[in-house]
Amino acid sequence: MLIPVVLAGGAGTRLWPMSRASFPKQFLPVVGPRSMLLETLDRFAGIEPADPIVVCQEAHRFVVAEQLRGAGWRAEILLEPAPRNTAPAIALAALQAMVRDPDAMLLVLPADHAIRDPEALRAALGPAQAAARQGRLVTFGVTPTRAETGYGYIEASEPPSAELAVPIQRFVEKPDAAIAETYLASGRYLWNSGMFLMRADRYLEELGAHRPDMLDAVTAAWEARQSDLDFLRVAPAPFAACEAESVDFAVMENTAEGCVVALDAGWSDVGSWQALWEIADKDAAGNALSGDVITEDVHGSLIHAESRLVTAVGVDDLLIVETSDAVLVTHREQAQEVKRIAAALKRDN
Ligand code: GDD
Ligand code: MG
Repeated sequence: MLIPVVLAGGAGTRLWPMSRASFPKQFLPVVGPRSMLLETLDRFAGIEPADPIVVCQEAHRFVVAEQLRGAGWRAEILLEPAPRNTAPAIALAALQAMVRDPDAMLLVLPADHAIRDPEALRAALGPAQAAARQGRLVTFGVTPTRAETGYGYIEASEPPSAELAVPIQRFVEKPDAAIAETYLASGRYLWNSGMFLMRADRYLEELGAHRPDMLDAVTAAWEARQSDLDFLRVAPAPFAACEAESVDFAVMENTAEGCVVALDAGWSDVGSWQALWEIADKDAAGNALSGDVITEDVHGSLIHAESRLVTAVGVDDLLIVETSDAVLVTHREQAQEVKRIAAALKRDN
């Protein structure tokens, strides 16, 4: 049984002010006509996977339940009392999946990606499943185009292929800029797309081998879970005692069982306004405009107007985002820094 596991617990702070703590980007129609959560699941509707598991924050339970129900997905919704990053979130999903099927296979999906060619992604599932059935933890690797420091880097032990999962030689999560440059220049590394395919039991074994403390905390929290209508709530105290760490640091950097399938599907992590500008349809001057916007002599900018007319004259490479209660203006190169505004707002409130 192939169970999609959607990780929908992130804060999305770099897409402020469109993405808010109370309503982060994964629940908004950022790229397509539907929310990123639904677009994530829609990519696999054609292959009819089992009912998905969505892991998210308690605060977002109603929006998640409503969106899924509205789209006809019957999902299990696991609520985290506090965010502990992705390694514990996937462990919860693995424990839950094994109730349905002890041989369950997890297709782990971040809820904040754009994929231009979902068919290519579906095709990559074949070789990934073949390796996952044998107990491997399979990632989907994307050819890097810049020395991005926000991604994991994968060195395969043999030339990567879209038809065959090959063993991972080295997995390095979020290297610093100098190291990322050398990886890019070597031509031997792929970006980790953040999607994984693996057997639920194998993930738990690998987590237990490398982070037994996390496995213990998550298991205790899951065993004391309570179900309430649409939701499964894990026990707050043991879950809070779990350290926060991503699957990439906790498991993928340490396991000897990683494999990678090359993915050429127009993948993009919609992490920042810069990333959105890159994948957006642009006019002849390189502007991505949405809403009521008028420009004169503006180039290379993203301007998003939600509640009033926004105009710009004689500026280049800006990000201007207007919502009913907040406006952001920054340079495209500073897109990563937007999270500082969200952090400052959190501090001050
Ligand atoms: N349920 C839950 N709980 N979900 C979470 C949590 C959590 O505590 N933290 C993050 N998520 C969700 C986010 O909403 C997102 O969909 C996904 O997990 C990945 O988390 P990010 O925080 O966006 O990770 P990242 O972008 O820094 O890094 C990961 O993705 C990169 C590609 O986009 C890593 O896997 C990198 O190696 C990878 O290159
Ligand atoms: Mg991300």
